[in-house]
Amino acid sequence: MGKPEIPERDPRSHWDAIYSNAEPSRLSWHQQFPIESLDLIEASCVDAGAPIIDVGGGASSLADCLLHRGYGNITVLDCSEVALDQARQRLGSMAEEIRWLTGDVRNFRTGEKFMLWHDRALFHFMVDASDRRKYLETLDACLDAEGHVVLGAFALCGPGTCSGLEVMRYDESLISELFAPRFRIVSTMFSRHETPSGQPQDFMFFYMQRVKE
Ligand SMILES: C[S@@+](CC[C@H](N)C(=O)[O-])C[C@H]1O[C@@H](n2cnc3c(N)ncnc32)[C@H](O)[C@@H]1O
Repeated sequence: MGKPEIPERDPRSHWDAIYSNAEPSRLSWHQQFPIESLDLIEASCVDAGAPIIDVGGGASSLADCLLHRGYGNITVLDCSEVALDQARQRLGSMAEEIRWLTGDVRNFRTGEKFMLWHDRALFHFMVDASDRRKYLETLDACLDAEGHVVLGAFALCGPGTCSGLEVMRYDESLISELFAPRFRIVSTMFSRHETPSGQPQDFMFFYMQRVKE
């Protein structure tokens, strides 16, 4: 008999409370301008009309920046409706140009195949092996056969917790162990994020391509 599956914790109430209790610009992961993500997305050379998904996008300004750079097929997925509402309010009428989906990345499915999957600071919350497996199954199911992944997670020297939750920290070999052989790492980028309260947080960004079967 296999090991019994650990029941999934529903992340919605935790994250709705986090976003309800602070201004988005006061949250530790807030970035005025997501430069690392934008640079890596541009380096992937995906077409401006290619479907892009930002998983765990929350209230991030990445979607706004992508629109300004001419990308026209953007989806933001997050478990927190409160976070997505904040992003929509900030964008005003431009919000209509983005598809907003409330859901859990671990069981998200859609008929669409995305050409680029972006994640800054969601994957590192997948601390259970079963959650990482479900995340990777979603990625597998939702990404085009020639798709690209831009993933930002805490570096080995980064924080061990975020918003009161334990996180996993990554370097190139740990990411490769989880994403290979389906994905190959094309480039990595170290980045020191400064939180709104002035604390440094070390991130690693990984740009990966799907390996042709
Ligand atoms: C640290 S925040 C990062 C937000 C955004 N990516 C950014 O860089 O500003 C993590 C985000 O992941 C979302 N999240 C956490 N667990 C999730 C899950 N299982 N499925 C979808 N979203 C989730 C949270 O609501 C939150 O918006």
